[in-house]
Amino acid sequence: MSHKYPSSHVLYRKLTREYPRIARGDGCYLYDDQGRRYLDGSGGAYVVNVGHGVSEIAEALACQAGRVAYVSGTTFTSDPVEEFAAEIAQLSPGDLDLVYPLGSGSEAVEAALKLARQYWVESGRTKKHKLLALAPSYHGNTLLALSASSREQYKTYYREWLVPVVRAPASYPYRCQCGGVAPLCAECSGAAIEAAILREGPDTVAALIAEPVGGSSSGASVPAAEYWPRVREICSRYEVLLVADEILTGAGRTGTWSALESYGVVPDIMVLGKGLAGGYAPLSAVVAPRRLVDVLARGSGVFLHAQTFSHHATLCAAGVATIRYLQRHGLIQRCAAMGRVLHQRLQELRSFACVGDVRGKGLLAGIEFVEDRSTQRPFPPSARFAESFAANALDRGLVVWPNAGQLADGTGDLAMLAPPFVIDEQQIGEMVTLFGEAVEQTVSQVKATR
Ligand SMILES: Cc1ncc(COP(=O)(O)O)c(C=O)c1O
Repeated sequence: MSHKYPSSHVLYRKLTREYPRIARGDGCYLYDDQGRRYLDGSGGAYVVNVGHGVSEIAEALACQAGRVAYVSGTTFTSDPVEEFAAEIAQLSPGDLDLVYPLGSGSEAVEAALKLARQYWVESGRTKKHKLLALAPSYHGNTLLALSASSREQYKTYYREWLVPVVRAPASYPYRCQCGGVAPLCAECSGAAIEAAILREGPDTVAALIAEPVGGSSSGASVPAAEYWPRVREICSRYEVLLVADEILTGAGRTGTWSALESYGVVPDIMVLGKGLAGGYAPLSAVVAPRRLVDVLARGSGVFLHAQTFSHHATLCAAGVATIRYLQRHGLIQRCAAMGRVLHQRLQELRSFACVGDVRGKGLLAGIEFVEDRSTQRPFPPSARFAESFAANALDRGLVVWPNAGQLADGTGDLAMLAPPFVIDEQQIGEMVTLFGEAVEQTVSQVKATR
């Protein structure tokens, strides 16, 4: 049977391609039903932090499901929910110690933004309703999260349903005036954020939501060391809540539990997702300080947000088991160490004329492809460079995460790597070799068609 629309009952995400059928996974590798092996270079969508096939996490899930799989978070709590919240509170920086568990990243972003708004209303600051977000950025696909995202092509059919969001340029060192080095330009120093707050009127801006290190959106762009401390100071000065979207960068991906802590910065609200339960269950979380939640407790007495599957016992059991596994095996430290090896090896890719930049932190890397390296001119979207590259990599048994159209004009081609933290040096070598072969093949295909 072919796994392609329309020959299956599955409504696939892409209706034009054939899907390999994965039968099992082990560590960094996946195996399909034909016996083909794939090196999972992106952990799926930046999810598989602890590796595939960890039986003790699977057993923790099964065990909880056998005891009691689900109770409504409106009526009950449970051991895994309490333990999950305590683990996250312990790992989170500063005063972030209250945890609202959800499923997807988009759900957590929606809940975090609602919490910010409810806080201001219950504080009597009802004028504070505007959301500030960066460009490029990505915060999810539900309608408020999509509104906050600057991914124009994702909005194509839905613009009428989206809410206005104030925009400031993100730090994107490869494509800005200063190149990420002092003296920093307005984008890379945080001055652009301050200008946007002042333009809108600080007493109208509720929150800034931002990715501490760029995800797919800006291809793992890493802001300068001064950036986040300055943005933190700006947000505090103008009483704008700083919401750190750590869905992709959190849970250890950049070599520390959260990416912001390496900047010595504590946000007002943090959202986690993706690797939080390593892919063993869909699990995300809003993490907030008591100083915000106390205002709700003294006022309405409720956080006005409810979802059937929030505070889910079995999902939280997967989260607890994943966090304990990460800690017991020192996997976040391993992520930092293997990240250094990865970034060193990836420098080899600069020998390809189409590789404009290689960047990232920990086991998160972004490779930006360009048609002309001297001018940083991207390929035209018709070349479909990133998509063809990902298909060629997959043909060779390497999974990467492609991303096209991150620039304001809808151009831009990225390939992202985010392997499981258990990856070793030899597997990193294998990944870089396969990556290089796929680049060569893609370049010759693109040349042949132009
Ligand atoms: C930074 C960031 N925020 C939010 C999301 C949305 O998460 P989800 O796809 O789980 O809804 C993503 C997903 O890629 C993301 O990268």
